[in-house]
Amino acid sequence: MTTSARAYLNHIGGEWLPAADGATTPDVNPARIDDVLAAFPSAGPQDAGRAAAAAARAFPAWARTPMPRRGEILSKAAQLLEARLDEVAEALTREEGKTLAESKGETARGVSLLRYFAGEAMQPAGEVYPSASASTFLYAERVPLGPVALITPWNFPVAIPVWKVAPALVFGNTVVLKPAELTPVTAWHLVDVLEKAGLPPGVLNLVVGRGSHVGKALVGDPRIKAISFTGSNEVGNGLAVQAAQRGAKFQLEMGGKNPVVVLRDADVEKAVELTIAGAMLSTGQKCTATSRVIVEKDVLDRFRDALAARAASLKVGDGMKPDTYMGPLVSAQAEKTVLGYIEAGKAEGARLVTGGTKLRGAEHDRGYFVAPTVFDRVGPDMRIAQEEIFGPVVVVIEAKDFDDAVRLANHTRFGLSASIATRDLGLAMRFVREIEAGIVHVNSQTAGAEPQVPFGGFKGSSSGSREQGKAAREFFTQIKTVYLDPP
Ligand code: UN1
Repeated sequence: MTTSARAYLNHIGGEWLPAADGATTPDVNPARIDDVLAAFPSAGPQDAGRAAAAAARAFPAWARTPMPRRGEILSKAAQLLEARLDEVAEALTREEGKTLAESKGETARGVSLLRYFAGEAMQPAGEVYPSASASTFLYAERVPLGPVALITPWNFPVAIPVWKVAPALVFGNTVVLKPAELTPVTAWHLVDVLEKAGLPPGVLNLVVGRGSHVGKALVGDPRIKAISFTGSNEVGNGLAVQAAQRGAKFQLEMGGKNPVVVLRDADVEKAVELTIAGAMLSTGQKCTATSRVIVEKDVLDRFRDALAARAASLKVGDGMKPDTYMGPLVSAQAEKTVLGYIEAGKAEGARLVTGGTKLRGAEHDRGYFVAPTVFDRVGPDMRIAQEEIFGPVVVVIEAKDFDDAVRLANHTRFGLSASIATRDLGLAMRFVREIEAGIVHVNSQTAGAEPQVPFGGFKGSSSGSREQGKAAREFFTQIKTVYLDPP
């Protein structure tokens, strides 16, 4: 372990604690695997149970705390997070791998999310209705759910924890946060700023550990009234069954296989740029990443050549270096999976146009670097056209015309985001109407999420609910309808 490795603890009931059995796990930089940032407790079911108990104890007082006061704590936390933006962004790049510019952008997004949900504290908390009875004051009030578990992934280790924790708290729930084991330092910062902003003990608890241990225990814990999860379909679907069996509310945000449709009238240079940004930033490790480009045949050769040239020119390296466009994959496992998909693509008969290999050499040998990869001559049913790869791999699929392009774009079990590149407003509007996706972009990349609008997918990409914006209130509150009559 390098000397900069620092020992961190879980946060339960206001106390910083090691795992009950003392187990720890190292937090490793995927760009330089000899750089160990931290040692974190590897929590187990016993720690999860303690955290759930602490959240349950803290709930009644937090639920009674006036909403504007809860909002003030979020505002203060936004200030504190902004003041340490550079430190958090550096930790993010070191533990996750994305470039420093992306990490700063994500941390700034975390600050805006805290501000947005602080503002929700001044919004109406229900509705008044007319009653059939002249003496009845009839209203429906939004009330909290109770202690909730938030299970978050490593790919947006600041933004996703914030966009779940902030609404959970402002609407009066108490929280057990289980961040991804690969990226705990960023989650630690979030808990630390909220605590310093004045959150009472037990309102926000942090347990770092494996999903199969801690996550599972939280989902099965009767004190936990709701679970919000972002991660893989496999884990999400199992979680849903477990939650449904005991009547807990749940929300799942899962994979994507997001298309960009390029029509023959598109500005090819612009279409290439938005495809590269969507496919290669964060090393393709976003549920909103572009993984399929469906191109009208008249423009296919020109687009594919320009895309391949741009992909081959990208600077891949340590995200801390200012000229890096694309960092490493997050872990050895992730690298293995991505290289496995590249082999599957070749074996199924797709043509590898550029990339396709692990990068070698002084800068790359110490990390998990895979070259930006483009396949063409891809059949719509090949695994690389159907399964989420979660890496810097994009496949080009030929379409005969607009209708064929939309049909191909919808030929997937996922439906998170989609984009079209065209100058034709009529076709853009038809695309918006016909595409099966929760988020649609016209002439911009498939990734990105502003805090004030609903985020989520159609089909297998989500459990049907939405996050962020006003949609967050739907998940993190329940409705109490009150018929109030004079005595
Ligand atoms: C974005 O596109 O900026 O896990 C956000 C993910 C998504 C968030 C994407 N839930 O990648």
